Formats: sequence, C-alpha cells, structure tokens
Amino acid sequence: MLRSFLERFFDWLGGSLFRRLALGVALVLLMLGAGALALTSAGLVSISASSGHWPVTSWFLHYSMRRAVSTQSLGIEVPENLADPALIFKGAGHFETGCLVCHGAPGRGQSLIAQQMTPEPPYLPSRISRWEPQELFWIVRHGIKFTAMPAWPALKRDDEVWAVVAFLQQLPEMSPERYRQLAFGERAENPAAVAPEHLRSLSDPLGPVLADCARCHGPDGGGRATGAFPILAGQNQAYLLASLKAYASGSRASGVMQPIAAGLDDEVLGQLAEYYAQLPPVTSRDEAQPDLEAVARGSELAAIGAKEQKVPSCIHCHGPSEAQRNRMYPVLAGQYPDYLALQLQLFAAGERGGTEYAEIMHSAAQRLTPDQMRDLAQFYASLERANRPEQGNNDAQEP
Ligand code: HEC
Ligand code: HEC
Ligand code: HEC
Repeated sequence: MLRSFLERFFDWLGGSLFRRLALGVALVLLMLGAGALALTSAGLVSISASSGHWPVTSWFLHYSMRRAVSTQSLGIEVPENLADPALIFKGAGHFETGCLVCHGAPGRGQSLIAQQMTPEPPYLPSRISRWEPQELFWIVRHGIKFTAMPAWPALKRDDEVWAVVAFLQQLPEMSPERYRQLAFGERAENPAAVAPEHLRSLSDPLGPVLADCARCHGPDGGGRATGAFPILAGQNQAYLLASLKAYASGSRASGVMQPIAAGLDDEVLGQLAEYYAQLPPVTSRDEAQPDLEAVARGSELAAIGAKEQKVPSCIHCHGPSEAQRNRMYPVLAGQYPDYLALQLQLFAAGERGGTEYAEIMHSAAQRLTPDQMRDLAQFYASLERANRPEQGNNDAQEP
C-alpha cells in the first residue's frame, strides 16, 4: 500500500525538474522552520539587550522603520505655525517630562540606564534633519514597536504632538542655555525663583512637586506669559482638584498633563489644588495690543449669548458677575486668550474631556463659530482676575 503510494509519488515527481526543485525548497524551508521552533522552545534564542543586535537585524529593523514611517505619514498635513514660540515652549516642557530620560537633551547627558537598551535611544539633535516634520509627528504620535519608543499618551491631542515636533525642529541648533530656558523658565536663571513666601522647606514633600509644576506654570502660577500654559493662580480650588483628577484618570485628554497627574496620589493633588487656588491672582499680560473690537463683540456674546444659534450666555457660569457661582465652573478672567480659544476648539471637537461637568461645555462650544471663539477668548483674557475673598470655602455647590 505505502509502497505503491511512494512509487506513484516518485513517478509524478520524476516527471519534471521544476517539481523536484520546488519540493527541495519546501523541504529546506520546513527544516529551517522546525529548527527555529526547536531553538525557540529550547530557550536558546538570544533576547538579551546586553548582546545587542546583529548588524543585519539592526539594518533590517531600521530599514523597515524608515519605510513604514515614510509611507504611513503620507498625507499628514503640517500646520503652518510650527515656529510659534508657544508651541516650542509646550514641546520643550513635555520633552523634559517624557523624553529626556531616554534621549537626553542639550546640556543634559543621556541616562546611563537608557543607554543599555537595545536598540539604544539616540541623542536626537543630529537625527532630526533626517526626518520630515510629518514623519516626526508620526513617530511621536504612534511610537515604534520593538523599541522602547512610546506612543503619545493622549491620541486625541494632535495639537500637543505638533508642539513636540515644533520643539524637535529647533533641537539641532539648540544650546544648553536655550534648552534650560525653554524647559525650566525662570528656574533656569534662578533656581530659587520659587518666591520666598512660596519656598517650601526641603522636608516638605510638596516642594519638589511644586518645583516641577513651576517649570511650566511658573513659580507664581501665572503660566510664564508664553500662552502655552494656563494660569492656575486664583483658580477655583474645586475646579483645580477635579481637573487634576480628570487628567489622572484620563477623562481629560492631555499627553502633557496626564502623565504628571497620574503620578501623584489624591492627597497630593488636593494640596496642589489648595496651593494654587490661594496664590494671588495673576492676569495674562499680552505684549500685543488687545483687539478692542473683538473684545467688544466677545463681551456682548458672553453677556447675552446668541439666541438664533442657541449659544447660552457665558457669564451666568463664568462671570463676571457678583453672584456666587458653582466652584466647578472655572474662572476665565485674565486667562491667556490662546489657551481659552484652544479649549473651546477642543470642546467643540469633543476632544477635551474634563470633569463630570464637562458635558455642559460641549453643546455650548459646538454652536460657536471660530471667530466667536476668538472674540470670547479675547474678551475673557482682557478682564482682570479678581481677588476673591470667599476662596477659602470651596465646597462645590449645585448649579
Ligand atoms: C523609554 C525610552 C524612550 C522614551 C521615553 C522616548 N523614546 Fe524616542 N526612541 C526610543 C528608542 C529606543 C528609539 C529607536 C531608536 C532606533 O532607531 O533604533 C526612539 C526613536 C525616536 C525617534 C527617531 C530617531 C531616529 O532617527 O531613529 C524620535 C524622533 C524620538 N524617538 C523622539 C522621542 C520623543 C519626542 C519622545 C518624548 C515624547 C521620546 N522619543 C520618548 C526610546 C524612547
Ligand atoms: C510640561 C509642562 C507642565 C508641567 C510640568 C505641569 N503642567 Fe499643568 N498644564 C500644562 C499644560 C500644557 C496644560 C493645558 C493642558 C490642556 O490642554 O488640557 C496644563 C493644565 C493644567 C491644569 C488645568 C488648568 C485649567 O484651567 O483647566 C491644571 C490644574 C494643572 N495643569 C496643574 C498642574 C500641576 C499641579 C502641576 C505640577 C504637579 C503641573 N500642572 C505641571 C503643562 C504643564
Ligand atoms: C452652565 C454653565 C456653563 C456655561 C453656560 C458655559 N460654561 Fe464654560 N465651563 C463650564 C464648566 C463646568 C467648565 C469646566 C469643564 C471641565 O473641565 O470639566 C467650563 C469650562 C470652560 C472653558 C475651559 C476653561 C479652562 O480653564 O480650561 C472655557 C474656555 C469655557 N468654559 C468658555 C465658555 C464660554 C465662552 C461660554 C459661553 C459661550 C461658556 N463657557 C458657557 C460651565 C459653563
């Protein structure tokens, strides 16, 4: 039986050289596969980072990466404002939080531990020119598999990814002084810039945390006058705490703030909210003259809303008014216009998230035109942020 089967098989095979060749190849592949499986099952494949890659593996992986990034970033539109200083500040602030550990930065050596990874994260300044901006965007947004290069923590926030790209593009020419100035602000020039009355003793566990917040939000909670970071000083305590918790849980999307808030426990978040709420209010000071017509239009819209568009009045919830408002409604007076406009855009696109009250803002923002958002942002930015003596009692009231 078996014999006749084999005989017939060899007859069939003998018929053509091509068939014999194909069988030979198939047999070799089968043996290679079986060999690889045996090696893997026996635990003999080298997975140690300490042994590095063979040159051919390294070449193949990098070649795949270059081709994949190039193809998959096709069609990504590069924004025109990548030279905007506010974007560069925001990108630099995040680079210090999220990238420095692996890649190092001008004046900041690479971590010896990160250098033991395979593949080793490169020092980036000399690499940037190899990539187009949309390719950098793709890399920072998606990360790279089989390397430790992580994806962006909040995939809804492309605006933040572009901020990092804006920063990366400045990197090749960046001096250590410039890096410190961008990523640390006043602390770069003066490490004691956390003003004396705010200076906390070393034993205070909040000290190092506040020093980190101050890199971006400024030692006075005034957002460093860059427009990249919101003013926190004089904000409602209940809103601050709820927002920090929303970042920590991911219900407010920001690749910049989520990793920071998620790393702190609720008790520390509570202390931070209390600290910033009681700081003397700061009002954004824009060098440029405010657009008075925009302010006037914004003022009217904020006061009476727009009936035909079903836009509610804003002052009912955000002031300015004498009435006691729900402390979960943030103070907008004196905030940076660009920050306010960005938040309205994010609400309208359904990409901001926030506290349990955030839903209220989605419908309000969706009905606004981009011009109206700008007018409203200009109006609220033009207001002085008031000292509110009732700040002590911050229990949220029902709306
Ligand atoms: C945990 C370590 C780690 C962190 C954190 C990290 N990276 Fe990477 N990154 C890597 C590794 C590893 C590679 C791949 C290196 C290679 O090409 O072999 C890489 C590659 C890159 C590349 C491509 C470089 C090139 O030319 O090959 C860029 C650009 C980059 N990272 C930017 C960033 C930015 C921006 C951040 C912060 C948002 C960041 N990385 C955070 C480890 C990290
Ligand atoms: C790397 C820069 C950076 C650091 C460090 C940083 N922040 Fe932020 N923070 C931002 C940015 C950018 C935003 C705006 C994010 C957004 O679009 O939602 C923000 C937003 C916030 C908000 C929401 C404000 C509002 O009006 O809704 C709070 C609260 C806040 N940060 C508190 C803190 C605290 C407390 C710390 C220190 C533990 C800190 N931040 C550290 C950059 C930073
Ligand atoms: C019914 C109350 C209510 C009305 C009306 C309202 N808001 Fe809000 N607004 C809120 C609440 C609550 C939040 C906080 C959302 C969150 O983060 O969870 C908020 C947040 C915002 C923010 C983000 C602030 C920050 O620091 O991130 C902006 C900007 C804003 N509102 C603008 C407006 C404008 C402009 C209008 C009028 C068109 C308006 N709001 C109408 C309740 C309201």
